[in-house]
Parts: sequence; structure tokens; C-alpha cells
Amino acid sequence: MIPSVLPTYNRAPLTFVKGEGAWLTEADGRRFLDLGAGIAVNALGHAHPALVGALTEQAHALWHVSNLYQIPQQKALADKLVDLTFADTVFFTNSGTESCELAVKMARKYFYDQGQPERVEIITFEGSFHGRSSAGIAAAGSEKMTKGFGPLLPGFVHVAFGDLDGVTNAISDNTAAIMIEPIQGEGGIRPVPDVELKALRQICDDNGLLLILDEVQCGVGRTGKLFAHEWAGITPDIMMVAKGIGGGFPLGAVLATEAAASGMTAGTHGSTYGGNPLGCAVGCAVLDHVATPAFLDGVNRKAGLLRQKLEGLVADHPDVFEEVRGSGLMLGLKCKAPNADVVAAGYDNEVITVPAADNVIRLLPPLTLTEDDIAQAQIRLEKTARQVQSQLASA
Ligand SMILES: Cc1ncc(COP(=O)(O)O)c(C=O)c1O
Repeated sequence: MIPSVLPTYNRAPLTFVKGEGAWLTEADGRRFLDLGAGIAVNALGHAHPALVGALTEQAHALWHVSNLYQIPQQKALADKLVDLTFADTVFFTNSGTESCELAVKMARKYFYDQGQPERVEIITFEGSFHGRSSAGIAAAGSEKMTKGFGPLLPGFVHVAFGDLDGVTNAISDNTAAIMIEPIQGEGGIRPVPDVELKALRQICDDNGLLLILDEVQCGVGRTGKLFAHEWAGITPDIMMVAKGIGGGFPLGAVLATEAAASGMTAGTHGSTYGGNPLGCAVGCAVLDHVATPAFLDGVNRKAGLLRQKLEGLVADHPDVFEEVRGSGLMLGLKCKAPNADVVAAGYDNEVITVPAADNVIRLLPPLTLTEDDIAQAQIRLEKTARQVQSQLASA
């Protein structure tokens, strides 16, 4: 019999009932170190007092009104994002997938309004992930995500990861945009080198294309800058955001330049819940914390420390791990042992990591991770590695 919850996830037998900082309490009382943060969502950890305060205060005042009316919390969050980034304007969504939907629509509408309606194609990359909607799976294009769900939304051209010549060759009179994650998350923590991001920006400029960055997973302080593309010294035309921006409250956003957004006039897009007072009140509190030099310096410092421990772990367990990759607190351990076994052994040792493609386990801890937490991470991952090593030996 089909479970009451549609079984689209292979869930671990863990039921968390409470969270505080980087720690989760299981129903049986065990405390787990959370190095997954709900897949890069709980940027300020669990139950951060500022977020609990912002949400509670707003919950007592007003939950929902509709985008038919002014929403001051939405305006406040949009103003902050415009001040802090390349963007001139922001649309709020409830998830990364919805941000992808709007990014695609916005790019196509831009060219339509420019009198170039044939420019509908978006170049995307093998191994990418942009969500599970029809546009999202067509953008990613992998068989794993698309099989059985055709006909797919047309207009996506897929190029091998890192293949700049492939990008150039894929450009035609029908091309509208290039869409890329500065660091592939689901694809296995694969960073796009700064020189490649710069080259993609140049290719877009030379060919009159829009650059769409998907910072759903790598954005909001995760790499030690507010947004990952800042490391490369470039700016996109359109950027997809979600996950960390709500710190655990479902919130996403599309940020854009005035030009790129020029087609999105009244009536062209909407969302019942997008930009609701609850989400935006929390989003403001998240940004007030994350978007400060002191906070981002802290992320960089802790990231250096964690990475150093992980390098040691890889050196000590060459049968289990191959390499550390990623940036800031978006780190991946490429495994030699099956990554699912490493994640499961982590559960036995009360540490949460997240699997990704390319046999990688992801470490996407709360950005508020403390040095004591990092020490615990080392202890628990070391035990995990030893467990996997003995499993390999006895297999
Ligand atoms: C880079 C990227 N884009 C889009 C999405 C989709 O976001 P959501 O699951 O919030 O719809 C994800 C989710 O993992 C993601 O990592």
C-alpha cells in the first residue's frame, strides 16, 4: 500500500524533534551535529533567537495579505537586497524552483520585448540542478530527473561542465541566456573557477546574452561572501536565490538588473505566498546578520578551520575519501567508499552530512557553527571514517 506521504524520498530512520544552533535532537534523545543544515537552509542554525523573534513578532501582527496590497516587510527586504547586490529589483518566491521558473520567464520576456522573440534558448550545464518543476528538470536535463516526465519544456541546450568552447559553439541566433550555479551543489560540490565565471560573463556581453546565476545553494554567505559570484568579481543579470535567505522559513527570490527585468510588467507574473510578511520578516533578520563584514569574516575563518580538519581526515583515510572540494562552508568530500555508506555511518556517529552526485558527501553546516562544533565535527567524522574503513576491510 502506498504510504500516506508520497514516497518520493528515501528517508533515513531519524526523527528530529528539536534544534538549537548546529545541533539536532532525535526523538530518542540522541544529539546530532548538523553539518547539512537542511541542505544549506538553516544559515543561522536552528532556533536562532533573532529569527524566532522576527517570526513570532510578525506572527502576532499579520500572516498574510496578498500581493494585491503593499507589504512593508517585502519592501524592506527588497531594499536591503538592492543595496547589497548588483540588483535593481527583486521578486520574492517560496522556493528555488519557483525562482528558476521566473528566471526563465524573465529572460525570454526580455528578448520578446526587445523584438527578438526567437531568442528563447538557455544554455545550461551537465550535472546542474535547478529544481523539480518542468522548467527546472528541463534545464538540468539529466535522465535521472527527466525520464518519464516528457514532453519536456523546450529551449534548453546542455553543455558539459567546464566546457567553454561548448558554450561558444552552442550559441545561436536563438540563444537568450546562460544559466549556471557558481558551485554545483547537487552535482557534487563542483565549483566553477573564477576565470570561467569571468569568461562566461564576457561571452554573454559579447553575444548580447543574459547571465543567470543560480545561487540557491551557494548564496547568502555560504562561501564567505554574501553571494558566491562576488569572488569572481562579476555580476549576473538575473540571480536565483532561496534556501539560506529564509533561514528555514520557505523563502526565495529572483534578483535582476532593471534592464533584464524590464519585460516583467504588471500581470506578467505572480505568487499568492511569495513575499508574504512572515517570510520577509525572517529574511530581513537573516540578512541583518549575514550581510556584515564581521559575520562573513567569521564564515571564512571557520571555513578555513573546517577545511583543514577535512584535509587531515582525507589524508588519514585514503581508502574512504579522495579529496576535499568546495568553497567556504559549502564543502564536499569526494568519497572512494560509496557515499551512501559514509552518510549512514555518520548517522551511527551522530553527525549529519548530505549525499550528492559524483559520490560526494556535502558539508553545508549552519554558518553560525562554532569552533567547538568544528572540533566535534572532526571527532565524529573521524569515527565515521574508521567505521567505514572497517566495513570496507570486512567486505
Ligand atoms: C542550485 C539549486 N537550484 C534550485 C534548487 C531548487 O530549490 P527548491 O528545492 O527550494 O525548490 C536547488 C535545491 O536544492 C538548488 O540546489
